[in-house]
This record gives sequence, structure tokens and C-alpha cells, in this order.
Amino acid sequence: MKVWITGATGLCGRAVTKLLSDSYDVVPTAFSRAEGNIFKVDITSKEDVKAFFEKHNPDAVVHLAAERKPDICENKKDVTDNLNIEATRFLAEQCKQNDCWFLYLSTDYVFDGTKPPYLPTSEPNPLNYYGESKLKGEIETLKANDKAAVLRVPVLYGEVEELGESAVTTIFNLLKKQEEAKVDHWATRFPTLVDDIAKVIAKMLSGKPSGTFHYSGETALTKYETALLMGELMNVSTDKLIAEPNQTGTALRPKNAQLDTASLKAAGFYVEPSEPKDVLAAILRPHL
Ligand SMILES: NC(=O)c1ccc[n+]([C@@H]2O[C@H](COP(=O)([O-])OP(=O)(O)OC[C@H]3O[C@@H](n4cnc5c(N)ncnc54)[C@H](OP(=O)(O)O)[C@@H]3O)[C@@H](O)[C@H]2O)c1
Repeated sequence: MKVWITGATGLCGRAVTKLLSDSYDVVPTAFSRAEGNIFKVDITSKEDVKAFFEKHNPDAVVHLAAERKPDICENKKDVTDNLNIEATRFLAEQCKQNDCWFLYLSTDYVFDGTKPPYLPTSEPNPLNYYGESKLKGEIETLKANDKAAVLRVPVLYGEVEELGESAVTTIFNLLKKQEEAKVDHWATRFPTLVDDIAKVIAKMLSGKPSGTFHYSGETALTKYETALLMGELMNVSTDKLIAEPNQTGTALRPKNAQLDTASLKAAGFYVEPSEPKDVLAAILRPHL
């Protein structure tokens, strides 16, 4: 089976490309960082996307490319719309026309975080433009292609090129500075390892389901609790960090958007999530 992966240079895309390459004929694509065996395809260009389908004729598309930084989405709505909504819609349509399975990776930010845990059927109510654009991407996907699947996941972590690449590993930058800093102790998050998501996607590719699914890590951590865990694992003092009980950041974020994974389990695509305490040290060590 030939699988086109968009966003292959990203945090999630690198893990997905690596794992799927073991079992599938993978064609990874990206944009500014595309090089070597990763093709450059601007997915906001309909001509480029059509040309890619004609040349490679994939059996499945795993669509990971997106603008996913809430503060950028808030300030660059046109760019965000083009990438997160319009390009997604066109890819979903092209997949439908080419009899190709389509998977769209989405986010727990489609929910407002007031009534967790959330089922795939729960009412979305995004609080920021990132969540809104990803929800519109979901709606366009399912409208354009009745055989497509949406997989919602929470905040991601994994092997990073630099600590700021993941909203989880970036916390380690604060510990390294050893300066007084307030750290969010308001929002509960469920950090999810990209290698686990790759395994879920590999399973979904073998079943090609349609509809919306949720996957999530199971360890609940605020950013402050994550910092304490990192301090313990890396033997770095956390004495200068102050737990901040109020919401931080410029874009509004959900307080607790825990995703219920029962339907993914029932469908047989679930994998046991890794625990941050078992994997974080290896991820952070190269960035000490
Ligand atoms: N990160 C999280 O915490 C998180 C949480 C929930 C859901 N998600 C979702 O998971 C997916 C993957 O996220 P991620 O964190 O791995 O993203 P990421 O690291 O920010 O990577 C984004 C990818 O999109 C590609 N891209 C950007 N503009 C493009 C364009 N015009 N044409 C083609 N490719 C383009 C980038 O390519 P270049 O870098 O080569 O330009 C890069 O490979 C996204 O859909 C995101 O919404 C992420």
C-alpha cells in the first residue's frame, strides 16, 4: 500500500514516517524543510496536490501538515485558513475522487475543556482560532469524503530538533535557565507521545475506518507538574519555579479537554500509551 504523509518534517510526521516506512510504501512530503527522500509539496497549491496524485497515485493519505501554534493562528488567520481548512478540504476531495483513504489529524482544542472527558460525539466549542480552524478542517473532511477518518489527539511530545518544538519539552527550557518563573498550574494536559500516535495510525491504515476517533496519553499533568517531573528525572532544581493558578498565554486554551478513547479501543486501533516518566529523560538528555 502506498501512503502519502503530509507534514513529514514535523514533530509527529517524523515519527509517523519512520514507523510506517517499516510496513508501507511511504511517500513523505513537507514544505520548507523538505530534503533528501522527503518531497517538497505545497499542499496549499491545488496544482501541486493534483500533480502529486497523478504521479504517485497513493492508496492512503495521512494528513499531518498544519499550522498548530495557537498564537500564530490567532494573528495569521488567512494563512491558517489556507493550510488548516482549504488545503485539508481539497486533499479530502482528491482522496474521494482517487479512491484513496484519508486520515486527518486533529486536536483536543476543538473542545472548550469545561466538561471532560470528551467523546467523538461530544459537542465541540473551540476557544481559540487554532481549534476553530482544525474543527473546520474536520467538518470539510467529513463533508467531502464519507470514507475519511479524523483522529483527535492532545498535546504532543517526542524526539525534538529543539526544545521549543513541542509544548511539552519547551518547559525544560525554563528549568535550564534556573531563573524565577511562573509556570501554568491551571490547565490539565495529557501529553501524548508521537511514536504511540504512529502506532495507532499504522493500525488504522490496516482497517481504513471512517468517522472520528480519539487517542490520548493517560497521565494528567499541568505544565507545573511536568516541570517537577522533568526536574526529578533530569536531576535539575525546580526551586525557582512558581505554580501559576491562573490561565497563561495570549490565545485562550481549554482547562481540561481530556479525550475519551473508548471508541478507538472498541475499533481495535488503540495502543497502550507510554508514560512521560518512562520516556522523557531520553527525549530531554540530548538537550541538557
Ligand atoms: N503539536 C501538538 O501538540 C499537536 C497537538 C494536537 C494535534 N496536533 C496536530 O498534529 C498534526 C501534526 O502536528 P506537528 O506538531 O507534528 O506539526 P509541526 O511540527 O508544526 O509540523 C508541521 C508540518 O506541516 C508542514 N507544512 C507547513 N506548511 C505547509 C505547506 N504549505 N505545505 C506542505 N506542508 C506544510 C511543515 O513542513 P516544513 O516544516 O518542512 O515547512 C511540517 O512538516 C497537525 O495537524 C496538528 O494540528 C498537534
